[in-house]
Amino acid sequence: MKLIVANWKMNPMTVGKAIALAKASDAACVVIAPPFVFFQAVKEAIVHATLAAQNIFFENAPVGGAYTGEISAGMAKSAGAAYAIIGHSERRVVMSETDEMIGKKFITAATAGLIPILCVGETSTIRKEGMEQAKQFVTNQLLIDLHFLKKLTVSEFIIAYEPVWAIGAGKSDSPENAAAMSRHIKQVITERFGVKNVPVLYGGSVDENNIAAFTHESDIDGFLIGGASLHPEKFKTMITIVSQIL
Ligand code: PGA
Repeated sequence: MKLIVANWKMNPMTVGKAIALAKASDAACVVIAPPFVFFQAVKEAIVHATLAAQNIFFENAPVGGAYTGEISAGMAKSAGAAYAIIGHSERRVVMSETDEMIGKKFITAATAGLIPILCVGETSTIRKEGMEQAKQFVTNQLLIDLHFLKKLTVSEFIIAYEPVWAIGAGKSDSPENAAAMSRHIKQVITERFGVKNVPVLYGGSVDENNIAAFTHESDIDGFLIGGASLHPEKFKTMITIVSQIL
């Protein structure tokens, strides 16, 4: 089963809309990442889907701590999250998150019992230099963000390949390139950390028109969807397409 992660980002604007969207998105292959303020309402509205935190704080703070505005991995877990999105490019760029912080978040999430979904991906400047440069950039991100894996075993984690230039752009990567990058990511993680067959999602302007072509790529294990996950009809169509192509 391919996973469809709905990254709602800072949407929708009211709890009522969040509940309606959650009900329309409720399927076993779906992971919903709502804003934290809607977590409880979304949890009560769904039966089949699971929940992800869009972010967690990088310190392991099992007994809480003086970190104004932050939410710990343990809190997200106790609120019902099964996954945590780590290192989304919007947080890397807008909130100046570094690979060091992201590495800490990865291990903090795993330690709290969440499945980390680590986002990696190159900028348009790098991609214009070529696919090999993009692969090198993604390799470097993986080596820093996952360096804890040299010392610690994490039973389950997911990588989301999201080329920064494709996010919210209305222009996705090609399924062939995304699949090639997915194979590259799996290979790097196997060679450097000894972990085989890590699931790799693709994210970046996935919609109801292009999702079938990505779904046919066996090296792409699912999707991280932003904009299109906010439209109930489009999202339902995507769930149907992904469920039909197995
Ligand atoms: P998009 O966002 O589907 O709107 O391109 C994807 C993401 O940012 O995770």
